[in-house]
Amino acid sequence: MTSRDRFLAAFAGEPLDRPPLWLMRQAGRYLPDYRAVRAQHGFWEVCKTPALATRVALEPLALFPLDAAIVFSDILTIPDALGLDVTFGTGDGPRVGRPLKGPADVEQWDLAGAPAKLAFAVDAVAHLRGAIGERALLGFCGSPWTLLCYAAEGQGSDDFRAARTLLLTDPALARRAMEAFADAAAGLLRAQLAAGADAVQIFDTWGGLLPRELYRAHVVPMIRRIVEQLPAVGGAPARTILFVRGGHHLVPVLGETGVQGLSLDWRTPWREARALHPRLVLQGNIDPITLLAGPDASAAETRALLAAMRTDDGGRRCIANLGHGILPPTTVDAVSALCRVVTEAAW
Ligand code: CP3
Repeated sequence: MTSRDRFLAAFAGEPLDRPPLWLMRQAGRYLPDYRAVRAQHGFWEVCKTPALATRVALEPLALFPLDAAIVFSDILTIPDALGLDVTFGTGDGPRVGRPLKGPADVEQWDLAGAPAKLAFAVDAVAHLRGAIGERALLGFCGSPWTLLCYAAEGQGSDDFRAARTLLLTDPALARRAMEAFADAAAGLLRAQLAAGADAVQIFDTWGGLLPRELYRAHVVPMIRRIVEQLPAVGGAPARTILFVRGGHHLVPVLGETGVQGLSLDWRTPWREARALHPRLVLQGNIDPITLLAGPDASAAETRALLAAMRTDDGGRRCIANLGHGILPPTTVDAVSALCRVVTEAAW
């Protein structure tokens, strides 16, 4: 079974020889060649130069037996393309030059011009597709809610109170802004699928900040809005995965988004999510901190996860991954230990 076949079989609900494996943020600052590239080039420059984006996306595939590549880009490409002017300073996270303050801002966002400004994130997919052989390929975008968090706050935050307040004080503006993000995201994902992505992941990094009923009322329809704009492939719905960080309390309503797969946060018990969603692909969900605890801890945690995966549905519809992205201090040895347990799993 090739890596790509294994990945596609997980979505088709077919038997697996073992779960396919990839890792959120598998390219990035924990890798030496990534740091070398970044010493020479700015972050947006890496994203916008297909040869560089491909080089850094390939580095983890050369080091680890991963079944999938994820295009090298960022969720904040979409607000940047709409005109919000996103920059990355040194070490202090993203900054939004033109944050969302009122209705006049949304009117100025350049939805019509976004596809041309996002063409680099489609070229990067096409470039990477040609370089990864029989591996699966993922495109991605940020969820409209998480993009609203950065747009309203203007920078990173622990609680994103500006966006959460906006949702309560001016839900119509919040909705207009999220609709713009959703439509730009749908356009990007459609183009990435057409350029050779096998699946797309929607990152809702800050979805867990919302209580269930607010999430259901305001965010679920926005994820649906994206999913419904993606064309079917060979009679089956486009392969979509939704990751909601801190979203344990939201898992019961995430099926209403229409996605085909859920990427579970590390705090979500695998079996609880499986009981709620027997027909969805589940992905996850090793705690990234486990990797900081070293190779032995990583291997033990991975074995425990595989045992949980195997008990349901004969181990189908599973993708092995982390419960959030790899942290910069992670060692190559710890990642290797995790990968070895998955690739040697008896299924
Ligand atoms: O292999 C991969 O997954 C790399 C592609 C990727 C990046 N960002 C590259 C990146 C992906 C899938 C993302 C998603 C992303 N970006 C999310 C959602 C996932 C998550 O981790 O919750 C979010 C919230 C962002 C926004 C973002 N981008 C922040 C807050 C930051 C700065 C903080 C940080 O983690 O470094 C970024 C920059 C960024 N995006 C880096 C990388 C490799 C680091 C840039 C650098 O300094 O070199």
